[in-house]
Parts: sequence; structure tokens; C-alpha cells
Amino acid sequence: MRTDTAPTILRQDYLPYPFRIPTVDLAFDLAPDLTQVHSRLTVERIHPEAAPLVLNGEALSLISIRIDGRLLSPEDYQLDDHQLTLHPDKPAFTLEIISTCRPAENTSLMGLYQSGHSLFTQCEAEGFRRITWFADRPDVMSRYTVTLRADKTQFPHLLSNGNLLQEQPLSDGRHEATWEDPHPKPSYLFALVAGDFDCREKTITTRSGRQALLQVYCDKGDYPRTAWALDCLERSVLWDESRFNLELDLDRFMIVAARDFNMGAMENKGLNIFNSAYVLADAQTATDASFEAIESVIGHEYFHNWTGNRITCRDWFQLSLKEGLTVFRDQEFSADMMARGLPDNAALSARTVKRIDDVTALRTAQFPEDAGPMAHPVRPDSYQEIGNFYTATVYEKGAEVIRMQHTLLGESGFQAGMAEYFRRHDGQAVTCDDFVNAMDSVYRQLAPGKDLTTFRRWYAQAGTPRVSVDLKHDAQAAQCVLTLSQRCDPVGVEKLQNPAVAKPPLHIPFALGLLGADGSPVLLETDGLKGETLVLDLTQTTQTWVFKNIAQRPVPSLLRNFSAPVIVEYNYTDEELALLARKDPEPFSRWEAGQSLATRCLLAMASKQGQSNTTKAATDLLAATWADIANDASLSPAYKARVFSLPSERVLLEKMSPIDPPALAQARRALRQYLGETLQDTWQTLYDNMCAALDGQDYRPDAASAGARALKNSALTYLVAATVTGALARAERQYYDADNMTDRMGGLTPLVNHAPDDVKARVLAHFYDQWQANPLVIDRWFALQATASSTTVADIQALMAHPAFTLRNPNRARSLVFQFCLNNIQGVYCEAGYAFWAEQVIALDQINPEIAARLARAFDHWARLVPKERQAIKLQLEKIMQRPSLSRNVYEIISKALTL
Ligand code: BES
Ligand code: ZN
Repeated sequence: MRTDTAPTILRQDYLPYPFRIPTVDLAFDLAPDLTQVHSRLTVERIHPEAAPLVLNGEALSLISIRIDGRLLSPEDYQLDDHQLTLHPDKPAFTLEIISTCRPAENTSLMGLYQSGHSLFTQCEAEGFRRITWFADRPDVMSRYTVTLRADKTQFPHLLSNGNLLQEQPLSDGRHEATWEDPHPKPSYLFALVAGDFDCREKTITTRSGRQALLQVYCDKGDYPRTAWALDCLERSVLWDESRFNLELDLDRFMIVAARDFNMGAMENKGLNIFNSAYVLADAQTATDASFEAIESVIGHEYFHNWTGNRITCRDWFQLSLKEGLTVFRDQEFSADMMARGLPDNAALSARTVKRIDDVTALRTAQFPEDAGPMAHPVRPDSYQEIGNFYTATVYEKGAEVIRMQHTLLGESGFQAGMAEYFRRHDGQAVTCDDFVNAMDSVYRQLAPGKDLTTFRRWYAQAGTPRVSVDLKHDAQAAQCVLTLSQRCDPVGVEKLQNPAVAKPPLHIPFALGLLGADGSPVLLETDGLKGETLVLDLTQTTQTWVFKNIAQRPVPSLLRNFSAPVIVEYNYTDEELALLARKDPEPFSRWEAGQSLATRCLLAMASKQGQSNTTKAATDLLAATWADIANDASLSPAYKARVFSLPSERVLLEKMSPIDPPALAQARRALRQYLGETLQDTWQTLYDNMCAALDGQDYRPDAASAGARALKNSALTYLVAATVTGALARAERQYYDADNMTDRMGGLTPLVNHAPDDVKARVLAHFYDQWQANPLVIDRWFALQATASSTTVADIQALMAHPAFTLRNPNRARSLVFQFCLNNIQGVYCEAGYAFWAEQVIALDQINPEIAARLARAFDHWARLVPKERQAIKLQLEKIMQRPSLSRNVYEIISKALTL
């Protein structure tokens, strides 16, 4: 495409579509090389004026167009690479278009494509236009009837949305199936699948007593690995009924696993299509993390059936309406599943583990995004390519924005708001504002005098706000004065366009507790509120609260449970952090305090004064605190495993100025070794205890045993890092003896990072031999090597020459190239690394622009690096930019990176 003319789409330019398309009839003659699509639309003009009928279409060949049966000739319409423009002279008519497309040639995996021997579709956001000409926008909703015809031996299963109306053999070895979806939907939710599959199924009874058929389709031979997925789907259906009062509205709900898939999964109405990585699992091939991810992705796509499909987005700027809300729902689903059946305290701890993981994901991906060239509000104002806006901001920050509304309204208020949202908008395509309006109507009743007017700014404002905390204690008056101040610096393009922009304050629900010097909770009393945790409404730039009856200076426990997606600034002493890490009754803040102390140690070690006495004192304090936590019998193994994982390099990089990746990698290695050595006995004990606790049990992916394995493998990693005698041998034994993939990887990972080359080569060869027939496991094999500390660009290039490697399969490309470029700090931050990255962005762009654009973001933070690295990356950005035929996707990313 002509990238120099890529148009920018603005939210403010939204106009309703001038036509309705109440029904869509599609007939497909499917074949990988050439597929013919016959589309019959009923069209009704809404606008009285003579607006033309503009339909989107890409990579299609036109055969014929008819209006009410009359064949059009070329002078009746305009056709270019992106649009078909018609000039109908009647208010209502039938439009028939016959066209062809080429699935086997479609490497972008958008529209209709081939994967293995099967055919799949992916239409969100703008893929339907690669299937037929259509008003490919989410606010045009239609009833679909779909007939699929294909060779019966090659494609015994022919699936589409809704209910199967009929199936019959055709004369020439072919057969056909007709599907009807009773629910009007936008084109992005259309799907078809054709292939030869195994299917695991179950009939369930929904709450109102209806029978529904749940099915999971997979490639032949993968059937034994579909049990967990079907189980997750059933639990998702039950959970949405019980927690959100939302019932399945279909007689049949299908999930199909695809080996080639750009994203995680897609919520097509009644026919979810999944990356096989989020469907297939058994003890031998999937880790605990995979089982957990499958549960959350299956939940997520199922929950879209209401939040996304029944109520959809008016336009793509509103993407967070469905994604932020549905991520919030899947997070709650996972938390409820983890806490299931536990007594209160243990349930809180289990939910907190999930919260820690979600906040870590937010800080790993979204905070950097909000500080870089792609910074944008949860509801963006403009885009060049919508595929680039399926971002951590829209998803993860969007979910935090929903969670804050949940915090402000409480569970029952939030559910009342959801009910109001469905009462107002079921069957419609709406905006983020419509959602907040529904919540606001309930909030105003619950909290007279309050409203969500200021809160709405969360949707409009980019950047991570900072809240600085000042706490003064007046011993004489026995009271504390707390002052919170918020600011949000300009980010991304704001820095260029309006660096002096004064961003108005946000409504920040700020959860606070206070601890006495011995760590006991202090009762808070202010403004008629009373409790051990108070949620303060910070709505102004600066606000002050006075807490009465506080005899001694307390230690504040700030932003409990991460009540808002902000950065808190408060000058804790190291000792105060250690106190919180040992004693805070609120488990999230307790974890957070430990992380803050570790972060301090790491940043000090990475800076010039790394060897100072104060750093030594801080690391000693950290070790002593960890030793206490290891011995605290009230904490779950899963929670302890989170405490003992050092903040990731990605999170830490954000806190450096300028960013110095090698220094950080070095500091992290050194601290891990130090903690390994200092706490050697602790790790030994934890390892032995967890092995004993798990001994004799068959593998189950439940949260409790997964927690024990996580802690065991974390202890093993520290033992190996500390080069404790026998640790490598123990890791090797664990690898060979493991009866599940979590333990196998738990043994293999430290070996690949620390063992002598011959041992490393031996175990890697053994792993490959054993699992070469399973692509998802071979992805792990590539990923492990891509992230190993000693891996260089040359090693990656050698792995790319391996017969099992291909850039065309997104999972494989991600496992090697993305893992190296995004997660191997030691390997990639060098001239050869940057050049390798640029080459791969360019190569991938020829194959799959959506995937290429994600890789293109690996060095979003380049402008904040130390000067030498900055220059070297800039050269590569410019090199990519000079390519004559960049996709719109990569063009948008690289041009934005270069403007900063
Ligand atoms: N609607 C998306 C899938 C999608 C995203 C399709 C972008 C096309 C373009 C789906 O609901 C989704 O959000 N999937 C996530 C996983 C989810 C658990 C957050 C994904 O695919 O990463
Ligand atoms: Zn989604």
C-alpha cells in the first residue's frame, strides 16, 4: 500500500451508516485454492438523501453484482482495492454479489484462510471485508443464514454461527450444511470452519431449564487434550449465570482449535475459534500456567457472548466497552475459581494471588505502553490501523477502569449497574459512555451527592497518573493528616503537540490502611467513615484527610489491592517496607512492599553505587524478610512463590532513567545469586517440603497444587542460581523423573540457564526427541532457548534454520523471535540484536502485518535508553521506515516511534 497516505481515522468523525442490512444470506463453495462466495443482502435506506452505498472489500475478485435480480454493468458502480460504491435508486432492495477469494494464499490469517488441512475465518476487526463486500463496521447488525458446500472427505465438518438447519450430500462427492444465527450481529462476529475434526461434547441444562450442547473441536488425535477445555466452558456458563445472572442464549456453543491463529481466541457468536494453545492441555504437555490461561481465555470468549455480542461496540474506538469489561469478568471468574471452596482467609489469599498476577501483567505491558510512543486513552481518539489498538491499555487498563467502578459501587451496586446496562442496550451497538451512564444512574442513588462525571476522564486521558502521599502525625492531637496529590505528565504525542497540557484530575478510589509500629492494624476514622481499610475518593489535584485517635506515628499501607492503576510515591524507609512485607494484614500491599524493597535493591545495584553499604543493608533486610515469609505458616505456597519472584526486567526498565538494560540484567543475576546463597537452607527446606506435600498425588491443575509446584520450582531455581552443590543434579533428576510438564520445565529451565554446555545440549536434545510431534510443546523448546541468558543472535539464527522453525505459524514465530526480542535483555540489547529485530519485522510484514506490527513494538522505549543504544535502535527504525511497501500496521508503529 501507499503508506505515505495512510489516513488517520478520528473518533469525532463518527457518522451512522446510512443503510440497514437486516438479513445476510451467504453461500460458500469452499476450496483452499479458490473459494466462491455468493452474498445476498437485504438493504434498506435509513437516510432519506441519496447517500451512496459504500461497501468494504479487500483481496477479492468480483464475478457479478445484481440489484433485485438485475445484473449491474461496470458503469453502475465504482470499485477500487478497498471499496465498492453503488448508487441504489430505491429505498429497499436485494443486493447479490458473487466473488472469489484464495484461502491457501492468505498468510495474513485475516478473513478466510487455511490452517493445516482446514479452513477458518477471522473477521475481527476488519477481516469480513476479505470474504465479501460488506458494510464491515460493528454498528451494522444483521441476521445471517450461511450455506457451506465442500468436498465431503476433505471437509466432513462444516460449521458456522447459530443452529444447524440442514445437512445433505451433493452429487459430486461434496456435501452442504446450512446454519442460521437467530441473533442479529455485526460482521466481525461471523465465522465458518471446515475440516476434519475430533469433537468432545456435553449437553448441559441452563438455569431456566433449557438444554444446550457444548462442543470442543480439535485436529484428529488431539481429542485426549480437550477435557479441560470442555470443563472450563461448562464452568464459564455456570459462573455467568450465578455471578452475573446471564444465561446462555444459544442451543449450541462450539469452540474450535486452530494451529495458525494471530491472537489468543475469538468470540464469534456460538462458534468461538481458538488458538490451539488455549484449548489443548493434559498433564504431560501443558504447564499449570497453560491450564490457568486456558480457563481464563475460554471464560473470556464465553463472557463476550453478553458483553460484546448481545451488546456490541458502536465503532472501534469503543473497543474497551467489550474488551475491558470482559477482561474484568474473566479476571473475576479466575479468582472465583481459585478461591472456590476455601475458608475466608484462604479465599482472600487465593484471590490476591490472581490480583498480583493481573497487576504484574498491567505493569509489564500497560505501564510501558502508557509511557511510550503508542500511549493512548482507554478510548482512543484516533488510529491509522485498528489492529494496532488491541492493546494493553484497551484491555488491561480498560479492565482496571471497570474494576474501579466495581470498587465505587460495590458488588451489588455493580450488578445493578450491569442489569441497567442490559435493560437499556440489549441488542444495540453502543459506546463506553453508555456503559458509564448505566453505572452512574445506580451510583447516584447509592451515594447521594456523588456521580461519575470526573470518573469518565479515565476513558479520555492517556498516561499513568502518579499519586504522591504525604503523611503527618501530630502526637499531641493524636491525629494524622494525609495529603494525596495527583499528576499525570504528558505522554506520547502529547509531548510534541502540547507539552504544557494541564490534564484535569481523575477520580481515583484510593484504598488505605494504617499499621502501628508493631504491624497491628489501626482503626481509621475520617469524614464519618470508619474501618481498617478506607477507600478515599481522590477527585481533586490535592486533597487532605484527617484521621482521629491515632496515638503513635503509623506506617501507611497504600493503594490496597491496587485500587487504581496509578503509581504511588511515598518515601518509605527500608524498615517500613520490611514491616509491611512481614505484617500488613492486606495481602496485596504486603506483597507490594516486598517488591518495592527488592526493586530498591536492584536499582541500586544497577547504578554506580551498587556496592555501597546501604545497598548491602537493604539486600540483607530483604533476605531476612524473605526468610520470615518462608516460615510464615499462614501464607499459601502460591502466595510465597509470588513474594519470591523478583520484579521482571520489563517492569524494572521503566523505573530507570536512562534505561540501561545490561546493568539491570547483571543486577538481577547478582541479587538472585545472593538470595540463593544467603537463604540456601530456606530454599532446601521449601523444596523438600513442597516435594513431600505433592508426593503420591496424581497431577491436578488446581490452584493449591499448582501453588506448591510454583514454590518448589522457585526454590530450585534459587538453589541452582546459588551454585549449591548438587542443585544441578537435582534439577536434572526432576526433569527426567517429572510426571507433568510443569515439573519438567521447572527442572529444565534452570539447567538451560546454568548447566555446563554438554548437559544443556543433552537435555535439550532429549526434550526435542520426546516431543517433536507436538507443536505446542516444541514452541516451549524454542521459547526456552530464546530466553536463556547465554543465547545470542547467532544462536537464534541457527534455531531459525532448524527444520521445525517457520515464521508463518504465529505461535512458532512468537516462541522464538518474539521471545528473544522482547524477553532476552542480555541477548538483544546490542547492535546485532537490533539489526536482527529489524530484519524480522520486515520479513514478517510480508507474511502477516498484524504479527509484524506487534514485533515492531519491541523497542517502544528506545528514546529513553542510554545514548549509545538509542542511536543504534534509531538507525534500525529508520531502516524499516525506508522500506517501500510497509503495511499500514507496521508503518503506524514505526512512524510513531520515530516522532519521539
Ligand atoms: N476479540 C478478541 C480477539 C481479537 C482481538 C480478534 C483482536 C481480532 C483482533 C478476543 O476476545 C480477545 O480479546 N482475545 C484475547 C485473549 C483474552 C483472554 C484477553 C487475545 O486473543 O489475546
Ligand atoms: Zn476479548
